[in-house]
Amino acid sequence: MTSDYARYLAAKTTVDDRALNRHVLAELRRLMPADAPRVLEVGAGLGTMVARLMDWGVVSAGEYTLLDADRQLLASSRRWLCDWAAARGLRSELLPDGLQVGDLRVRLVHAELGTYLEAAHEVLADALIANAVLDLVDVRAVLPGLLRLLVPGGVYWFTINYDGETIFEPGHPLDDQVMGAYHRDMDERIRYGRPAGESRTGRRLFHYLRAAEAPALAAGPSDWVLSAGPDGNYPGDEAYFLRSILSTIQNALQSRPDRVAPADLAAWLAVRDRQLAAGELVYIAHQLDFVGRSPG
Ligand SMILES: C[S@@+](CC[C@H](N)C(=O)[O-])C[C@H]1O[C@@H](n2cnc3c(N)ncnc32)[C@H](O)[C@@H]1O
Repeated sequence: MTSDYARYLAAKTTVDDRALNRHVLAELRRLMPADAPRVLEVGAGLGTMVARLMDWGVVSAGEYTLLDADRQLLASSRRWLCDWAAARGLRSELLPDGLQVGDLRVRLVHAELGTYLEAAHEVLADALIANAVLDLVDVRAVLPGLLRLLVPGGVYWFTINYDGETIFEPGHPLDDQVMGAYHRDMDERIRYGRPAGESRTGRRLFHYLRAAEAPALAAGPSDWVLSAGPDGNYPGDEAYFLRSILSTIQNALQSRPDRVAPADLAAWLAVRDRQLAAGELVYIAHQLDFVGRSPG
């Protein structure tokens, strides 16, 4: 994974900050064990969520494990989290398998989720987090194994689950064709030799969680909403984030000329790029957050 992807995840932080559903978050605060919990975050990327949860006072001590299939991203997370801690005057120390941030021990685990779930794990987590991840895996297949990583009755918080609706404004005549083709690509994607994603993960999680005997205790929307401010600039690094979204769509569709003709895709992207540069492009992605307890 390139440093471009790390920049994309860092740019996503302010977008997620606005999007995360506060009603669901309040339920997480209620369910999170007060004393030094063991938290496992899967598909943790750069580790921006552990920083956010410390900022928001949801975790401050205990152990927080970042699991990701991308070794380079995990390596970047050590530096990113140290810089984040320094900016807040928090003491941090690099350790062989992670780092110490204030009273929180952060462990880095390099593993592909499906493979990780196939192994036995003696130490279970009190809280399990997946942010912008469950729409990238075969969620129905992995959910029972994921929930078994929790102590009985442990809390899960599954957030930013894409739900098959994207809006670009101003509208363009090719929007439906482009997004329809992109959703098909999501539904057919294979990564790490396994099915990897479903474009309607959000709404389906209601049923999948119930089938796994862990129905949601709270759920709600966590839509990404991006627009430029009155000065025509996007907040933070969000123009980069939006450019990355357009690149993701481009990369997915340029090998599928049968679904969107190359000239149409190029024309659509040219218009979107121009609108982005002018601060005119609005982007909305519908997503859902869930919180609940593992069976037992
Ligand atoms: C969209 S990013 C989200 C990262 C982070 N949760 C965040 O919100 O900033 C998805 C992350 O999941 C990881 N990932 C995707 N599929 C995975 C898998 N099968 N096993 C482990 N990690 C995976 C990717 O490497 C990436 O870091």
